[in-house]
Amino acid sequence: MSKPVILTGLRANNDLHLGNYLGALLPMVDMAKQHAGEYQINLFVPDLHSFTTPVDHSKLFDQILQNLKVFAAAGLPLEHEDIHIYRQSFITAHSELTWILDCFTGFGEMSRMTQFKDKSAKLSQDRISVGLFNYPVLMAADILLYGASYVPVGDDQTQHLEFTRDIAERMNKQFGDLFVVPKPVTEQHTFFGKEQGLRVKDLVDPTKKMSKSDETGTGVIFLTDNASVARKKIMSATTDSLGKISYDTTNQPGVSNLLQILGLLANKSLEAVAKEYAGQSQYGALKEAVSTAVVDFLSDFQTKLAAVDEHALLNKLAASEQTMNQTASQTLHKAQQAVGLRPKGQ
Ligand code: TYM
Repeated sequence: MSKPVILTGLRANNDLHLGNYLGALLPMVDMAKQHAGEYQINLFVPDLHSFTTPVDHSKLFDQILQNLKVFAAAGLPLEHEDIHIYRQSFITAHSELTWILDCFTGFGEMSRMTQFKDKSAKLSQDRISVGLFNYPVLMAADILLYGASYVPVGDDQTQHLEFTRDIAERMNKQFGDLFVVPKPVTEQHTFFGKEQGLRVKDLVDPTKKMSKSDETGTGVIFLTDNASVARKKIMSATTDSLGKISYDTTNQPGVSNLLQILGLLANKSLEAVAKEYAGQSQYGALKEAVSTAVVDFLSDFQTKLAAVDEHALLNKLAASEQTMNQTASQTLHKAQQAVGLRPKGQ
């Protein structure tokens, strides 16, 4: 019997930042370490999703490899046989299944996706790509091709996961047992625990998440930032004028974000960090502490990144892509048979 699959992906449209690292990458690596053995773990780079909004195409290919290196630097055990790393575009079944799913997806259904609404609101009509609109369908294909039961993602992706369940159920109803339906979102949260849904916020506008799509980059700590750049960003982080330090995301989003970053980097609970600073009326000491923690983290991380064995990484990538191509082609074939593109029973 094959093992149940846990699958997740991280796009490569810009340099990775602290929000990706603490909110997604590190939990992904911890999850892989914890569950490999009992589960098959698919960690992939959705490179086709990486240019649903404009990117620098001259850098994309290298960026993708760089992201995979970041996984290795963060401690992903590449030698484990249950762990697979791959690039979406190297497995053509992703694009092919997307087209099939597209034809069973409603225009209204896609129009209601909040991520599409948020992202398209920032772009002029001509720059809103059909790819951005279609993003959740490709994401559904990513998941369904490998029969994934669990898909750990941030809460900004919940709606896409629900759509994946919907389209899988719809297709199964029409064609019989075609796809594994991923577990309901609430069950996923129980399975993955507290990291799920965690969001590091932008330092300049702490009401929105730290995001790769932020073009100015002043509120975002990139993993490649040097000490003085990172320090400057933290020291000029937006706070408030309430003159107290408490974890209160509604009234003190900036301060709460700093407490959260400090807790994650110092490996302390949020309560413990908030307690340490309770009663202080100035924000300087908190910013100093966050700066030091971030700078120490970046220097340690950048050393590990430089030491990644590129040869071993590329070998692992090639092996995983070969294996995953086989799995994905089988699922695609079943879907092609179901919709009448291939003869049944072969
Ligand atoms: P991406 O690259 O935008 O985000 C990858 C993961 O990081 C989470 N995330 C954050 N978490 C905490 N704080 C932040 N500031 C922050 N920013 C992003 C996201 O919730 C996500 O879990 N659509 C996916 C990529 C994808 C995918 C898939 C995932 C494509 N196909 C199939 C799982 C399964 C995305 O949001 O990527």
